[in-house]
Amino acid sequence: MNRVLAHTGARFPIVQAPMGWIARSTLASAVSRAGGLGIIETSSGETENCQREIRTMVASGLPFGVNLPIRFLKDDAMLRFVCESGIRFVTTSAGSPAKFIAPLKAAGIVVYHAVPTLDTALKCVDAGVDGLVVEGGEGGGFKNPEEVSTLVLLQAIRERVDVPLIAAGGIVDGRGMAAAFALGAEAIQMGTRFVASAESPVHANYKQAIVDAQITGTWMLNTKSSPCIRALKTEFTQTIHEAGLMGPDSFNGIQGVYFGGDMNAAPALAGESAGLIHSVDSVEKIIADTVAQFQAIAGRFGAMAAAAHFG
Ligand SMILES: Cc1cc2nc3c(=O)[nH]c(=O)nc-3n(C[C@H](O)[C@H](O)[C@H](O)COP(=O)(O)O)c2cc1C
Repeated sequence: MNRVLAHTGARFPIVQAPMGWIARSTLASAVSRAGGLGIIETSSGETENCQREIRTMVASGLPFGVNLPIRFLKDDAMLRFVCESGIRFVTTSAGSPAKFIAPLKAAGIVVYHAVPTLDTALKCVDAGVDGLVVEGGEGGGFKNPEEVSTLVLLQAIRERVDVPLIAAGGIVDGRGMAAAFALGAEAIQMGTRFVASAESPVHANYKQAIVDAQITGTWMLNTKSSPCIRALKTEFTQTIHEAGLMGPDSFNGIQGVYFGGDMNAAPALAGESAGLIHSVDSVEKIIADTVAQFQAIAGRFGAMAAAAHFG
């Protein structure tokens, strides 16, 4: 039995990444309806709006999860709300989950923590998390400046821990999913792929910028300060790249990127995986194609194993 499916109630081990303002009920319910697991973000800091989105998902009866970005939570309000909402699955990120584990588990919630390094993974497992989201440096969003690729990080963590792993960073299809499973993952999480989906609430310019991007189309920025991020190469991020530092108000215009379509209003977060995305597709197609391609590859591997050959 796939432990991520048992923990989440989803039909397929395909998770939609938490993303500020983007990962709300329109996208999350499309993903969950298509058999994956939608996640509702709380990193926007818009407590009331996020609570409304969570209530919408609870009312839908679909499986889903909530992300709690520990360092960005202003107070306990969201944690308390999540514990009282009948939610089954939470991912924590950005900070130590130690203090969150006891109240979440007391509420019967399964907790996975997002980790960018082996050390953090080991600490989180000691602290009692049920699973890990293993985030390689090629992914979009806030990153650890000491970036390790998904390929290496998954193997390093799988070698040392037994909890279920969700692989994130650089995955857009069944090929990436099969690779992640070969390295020990039991599920994948996709961010950039779902930003460029039909049901994603972002402006068409942002989706098109992802479709147009090459695999060299992103930068790791602000690596000597915090937050270190991976974002699309734009005029706005070129300035940060050249300065080597990002101003404290750089994200003030983020909604201008997301909903206004101004690609130079703030850093447009995206992973290297943007270079693997060639069209804006429906969530249903993305998930169905990913599952079909994964199963075709798994079938080929099964045939190779049965015949003891490598062809
Ligand atoms: C636009 C965007 C926003 C993101 N915002 C968040 C966030 O608010 N919280 C979080 O934990 N991760 C965030 N991430 C990171 C994702 O959770 C995920 O790890 C990453 O997208 C995986 O790599 P991929 O983009 O190659 O799929 C964001 C990623 C993107 C692309």
